[in-house]
Amino acid sequence: MTEANWEQRSASVARTRAIGQRLGAAARPGDILLLIGELGAGKTALTQGLARGLDIGEVVNSPTFTLLKEHRSGRVPLYHFDLYRIERASELIDLGFGEYFGGDGVAVVEWADRVANEIFGSDWLQATITTPNNHGRIIHWRAQGQRAEEWLTATREPL
Ligand SMILES: Nc1ncnc2c1ncn2[C@@H]1O[C@H](COP(=O)(O)OP(=O)(O)OP(=O)(O)O)[C@@H](O)[C@H]1O
Ligand SMILES: [Mg+2]
Repeated sequence: MTEANWEQRSASVARTRAIGQRLGAAARPGDILLLIGELGAGKTALTQGLARGLDIGEVVNSPTFTLLKEHRSGRVPLYHFDLYRIERASELIDLGFGEYFGGDGVAVVEWADRVANEIFGSDWLQATITTPNNHGRIIHWRAQGQRAEEWLTATREPL
């Protein structure tokens, strides 16, 4: 099992979207991105960029009231979860969970820390976003598994 850690800063919402766009451009079916961070950290902003990187034209918002929004207008389906209101991990299983993770699309999960990471299998990329000040964000990447590590490496900008 491989694991990689890396931290980067984002000074603006535009920058966070640009980082997401690189992720989307490098994404492949079956990829899983787990997003952690408080309200307003920028989880949706990162997802909006990722959607653009997948050539999804429509608006992407937090699916707070629905647990899942599917976007199928891009090169690969995007399954956008928001677990803010989830009470039990079994709600995900009831939703037909297995179809959405590691399948034909890219799964992005806001508030992924509401459930145990193991539910997402053994290969996923995790971004924890912290907010040291109004506009600054620190994104801490953790790639668990070989594909996630490749995805992160492909996304990372040359130094
Ligand atoms: N560097 C930055 N990166 C991302 N967002 C930023 C940054 N600086 C300021 N912002 C602002 O922070 C907010 C991030 O909102 P966003 O909806 O993406 O957060 P979220 O983590 O999805 O929150 P929620 O948990 O409510 O879904 C936006 O209003 C955005 O303009
Ligand atoms: Mg959100």
